[in-house]
Amino acid sequence: MDELAINGGPMAKPTPYARPNRYGEEELALLREVIESGRLMGPGGMVARFEQEVAEAFGARHVVMVTSGTAALHTALAALGVSEGHEVITTPVTDIGTVAAILALHAIPVFADLDPDTTLISPQSARERITERTRVVIAVHMAGLPCPMDELLTLGEETGVLILEDCAQAHGGTWQGRKLGTIGHAAGFSMNESKQMSTGDGGFVMTDDDETARIATLFHDKTYVRDGSIGYGDQPIPFFALNYRPTCLQAAVGLAQLHKLDGLVARRDEIARRYYAELGDLPHLKLPRIVDGGQPSWWPIPARYTGEEPAYEEITRALGAEGLSVGTRMGPAGNILRTELIRTKRYYPLTDEVPAFWREAAYDPDSCPNADALQASLLRLPVDQRYTDEDIEQTIAGIRKVWGHYFGTT
Ligand SMILES: Cc1ncc(COP(=O)(O)O)c(C=O)c1O
Repeated sequence: MDELAINGGPMAKPTPYARPNRYGEEELALLREVIESGRLMGPGGMVARFEQEVAEAFGARHVVMVTSGTAALHTALAALGVSEGHEVITTPVTDIGTVAAILALHAIPVFADLDPDTTLISPQSARERITERTRVVIAVHMAGLPCPMDELLTLGEETGVLILEDCAQAHGGTWQGRKLGTIGHAAGFSMNESKQMSTGDGGFVMTDDDETARIATLFHDKTYVRDGSIGYGDQPIPFFALNYRPTCLQAAVGLAQLHKLDGLVARRDEIARRYYAELGDLPHLKLPRIVDGGQPSWWPIPARYTGEEPAYEEITRALGAEGLSVGTRMGPAGNILRTELIRTKRYYPLTDEVPAFWREAAYDPDSCPNADALQASLLRLPVDQRYTDEDIEQTIAGIRKVWGHYFGTT
């Protein structure tokens, strides 16, 4: 066996991973259509077409396109009735946008721990954190892995809390044959550039509930009624809302991306299956368990190093030296319980006075030990539809080489 690259041997992956431009002729054609229509502003136009096609493709009754995943979650939470003083349970391993959406409504984020096997929300931990003030549990399908929806739906039925799916990383994944985003009471999707569908930045809300959709439609557009039933100057403005309207340019790109989604999900599945088949036998490497009935829309896979010798840091250094793109963090903030925002409850940029709605909340930074344990042992296996078979073969060979060196596996 070759010497490890970290010790001066040849790299297992000497060439960079393939990442050709993900936008192309269809995006250009639809963008041209929008420009030629003379109408860039939604709602309506290409935005309405996007919403309709996404609803059809996912099997949902309603889709409301917005400007980001954070805006989608904010809008969805508002439409589900979250208001000041309500508690919303989620996990501390997610994007801060999930938590910002809660705080924006003056609701209180409450953090449940992860299940170490799935790396997703533990329904048991969520159950333990439910109080009479809990309104919603946000199930984050992190890394495109479906949350244990049967247990979460049961939790909802037994306690009356609503389930909001955070599908920011999960476009096209399914659970029991249903698309993620159509299982809970509503869902929020992101379309920033790292996502399975990208409009550069963007997002959408999904729900089957007519009333939730009606409120979401008002909420994303300053409450303006746009169906022609209200005369100019007579808008009733029934409540406070912001402007989260996307443009038809975003919708054009989004539509082209939607048309590529099935192919992207299938190619990523092919890659993920190879990792499970060709690395699943390695000691001290734990791949996440997929919940029964779940079909992920794969992202870089949150595998874990479960050995003690050598130290995790040595393993990650050795993998990096081989030229492998193996990540060591989930989410930009690691464990959100440990961010300055949560530790200090500093809501506003220029005053450290905690607003009244948040004063009583108390956070124990050590209350989600499985989240810390995940971050401290993470080996994210690279997944992207653009990677070539050679990229994947070299990655697998590189991991097996490092394992062979340290653990004597072949
Ligand atoms: C799990 C999760 N939730 C929410 C968001 C927020 O999305 P956005 O960046 O589009 O606001 C993201 C994306 O960064 C995410 O990955």
